[in-house]
Amino acid sequence: MLITGGNPLMGEVRVSGGKNTAVAVIPATLLCDEPCTIENLPDISDVYALVDILRALGARVDYVPNAFMTVDPRPAEGWQVSYDDSQRLRASYYLLGALLGRRNEAEVYLPGGCAIGARPIDQHLKGFAALGAEVEQLGGRITARADALVGSDVFFDVVTVGGTINVMLAAVKAQGNTTIYNAAKEPHIVDLANFLNSMGAKIKGAGTDVIRIRGQQVLHGTTYAVIPDQIETGTLMIAAAATHGDVVINGCIPTHMDALAAKLLEMGVRVTDSDDAIRVRSNGQHRAVNIKTQVYPGFPTDLQQPMSALLTTAKGTSIIQETIYESRLKHLSEISRMGAQVRIVDRTAIIDGVTDLYGGPITATDLRAGAALVIAGLMAKGVTEIYEPHYIDRGYENIEQKLRSLGAVISREKGE
Ligand code: EPZ
Repeated sequence: MLITGGNPLMGEVRVSGGKNTAVAVIPATLLCDEPCTIENLPDISDVYALVDILRALGARVDYVPNAFMTVDPRPAEGWQVSYDDSQRLRASYYLLGALLGRRNEAEVYLPGGCAIGARPIDQHLKGFAALGAEVEQLGGRITARADALVGSDVFFDVVTVGGTINVMLAAVKAQGNTTIYNAAKEPHIVDLANFLNSMGAKIKGAGTDVIRIRGQQVLHGTTYAVIPDQIETGTLMIAAAATHGDVVINGCIPTHMDALAAKLLEMGVRVTDSDDAIRVRSNGQHRAVNIKTQVYPGFPTDLQQPMSALLTTAKGTSIIQETIYESRLKHLSEISRMGAQVRIVDRTAIIDGVTDLYGGPITATDLRAGAALVIAGLMAKGVTEIYEPHYIDRGYENIEQKLRSLGAVISREKGE
């Protein structure tokens, strides 16, 4: 990916449907007893991977990108996801909860996904066991089986987005009531609950730390549009600020962006919003700020990387504390090659703002690291070459096209 920096982003752009909600809602169609239609899905590689997985399990999937996906789960007899398919995306682990809920048995390999440190799934497995499943993990293969899933109390030791979603998936068709304590509160958890409830599931409390689920035997077909992508919205907000531009992001949910908007305001960026749009304007020197990543509604770890790229040219010293993942600061070593002044101590980055970054060859190591490098490239003097841009395609639909429509000079060339 080639970016010629220094062009202020100007104009309006529409945000796509949420990746992290899409990758939960698509497996959740397996719980339905009739066909379901999902709208507003982002056209990204993680969605294609899930289409292949559902088809391999026997479901009929009709997918028209940027229009709809209809899943008829009735012919799906499969309950095993291959090693290759499990590795294609992190969210393949949602097939565990969805298949357990559908047919009381599931086999999935430990998932792939971004290399941002250890990402155990012990809490997911503990939740399945609480619902009565026998769970075995051998050679990276996880098998879960139950004669019947029975609702129960599930207490999470850590707040986990994936664990909360997986237990919800398994519990919606279990016999009796399940209560999840210390649940995650991210917007896509609420969206998944709304999707399942639109099929007739009985889920209350999503968006709080206690979720109550009354198991149902049968779920009916539905048509549902997923929420806009919180992290794409945030990345576009940061890109607008980074280029001292003036951008209106349409089709977003401004309240999901409160933590980021507060930090941008603290830096001296102007952020205003209306019902479903946010305008970000910036024309002066940014001030350094400190960031500590936290579970929702705190500052999201998924925006830490793009935000820390922006902070490399803010006046003063910014301190970034990454509390969710052990290894999510690698992008800063790459941006240091462009002239950023960064010290990394354990999970903390100390950034001394510099006046300018300078373009050069750099390499993306994961999805949001890739987004951070795009922000750095947009700010830098000269041309930035980002290698391994395929990571970015996992979570951002048409990123070059969207940024180009705002005035960025960005393109992609095939590698050797
Ligand atoms: C989800 O990952 C997202 N992925 C991530 O987005 C996001 O960074 C993360 O939530 C936090 O918001 C999807 O939705 C597909 P967690 P997930 O379980 O579910 C520990 C992106 O860039 N933990 O909330 O895997 C874990 O190690 C991606 O879009 C356990 O110890 O995150 C981590 O430190 C990257 N045991 C913390 O909890 C468990 O069983 C939070 O992980 C589960 C998690």
